Amino acid sequence: MGKVIVVTGTPGTGKTLLARKLAEKLNGIHIDLSELVLKEGLYTEYDVEVASFIIDEEAVIGRIKELASRYEIVVIDSHYGEIVPPDLVWKVIVLRTDPEELEKRLQKRGWWWEKIRENVEAEILSVCSQQALNVFGRDKVYEIDTTNKNPQQVLEEALEILQGKGEPGLKYDWLATKPIKKLSKYLA
Ligand SMILES: Nc1ncnc2c1ncn2[C@@H]1O[C@H](COP(=O)(O)OP(=O)(O)OP(=O)(O)O)[C@@H](O)[C@H]1O
Ligand SMILES: [Mg+2]
Repeated sequence: MGKVIVVTGTPGTGKTLLARKLAEKLNGIHIDLSELVLKEGLYTEYDVEVASFIIDEEAVIGRIKELASRYEIVVIDSHYGEIVPPDLVWKVIVLRTDPEELEKRLQKRGWWWEKIRENVEAEILSVCSQQALNVFGRDKVYEIDTTNKNPQQVLEEALEILQGKGEPGLKYDWLATKPIKKLSKYLA
């Protein structure tokens, strides 16, 4: 079986940009999980209320296993990276972004305020990191702060992590490090 690297994080933290570069650098394959689900119809139904597809977990897991048996390096790019079977996973990289910077990136997408707010709130509460830690365990999960780094610097930090440098576990906690007056507008 090949090595699976999971790149996860709140929308807008730069997963796709990093995962693409990482796969290229390591001669692996980049899989954007949402894209794969849509392209291959790996969903069971469309939920009109939340305007999204309900993914067929079994089918997605089967597909990831198949890719891992065919490629030496598989870079999975997803904000629900927890779906990847832990025994297949080599390392998990969680991208983090300062809430104010993340708001700017999401505004550029033309998202409405409530959608931006919900996502920035999830970033403030470290939701993706907590989920990754719960599912994959502390030793496999590494965070990178992308806030004042360009994509090349983020790539270099990721490559170092894969080489065994850096400390695993939770490193960034916006609630503890930013003044609450800068965060309260995002919190429900
Ligand atoms: N290190 C970085 N520095 C500055 N801007 C970045 C960085 N990484 C990504 N961006 C910018 O942030 C935006 C979001 O990047 P990207 O699409 O890779 O995020 P994503 O995590 O894949 O989002 P989604 O979950 O919605 O797919 C893009 O406009 C990108 O140019
Ligand atoms: Mg993406």
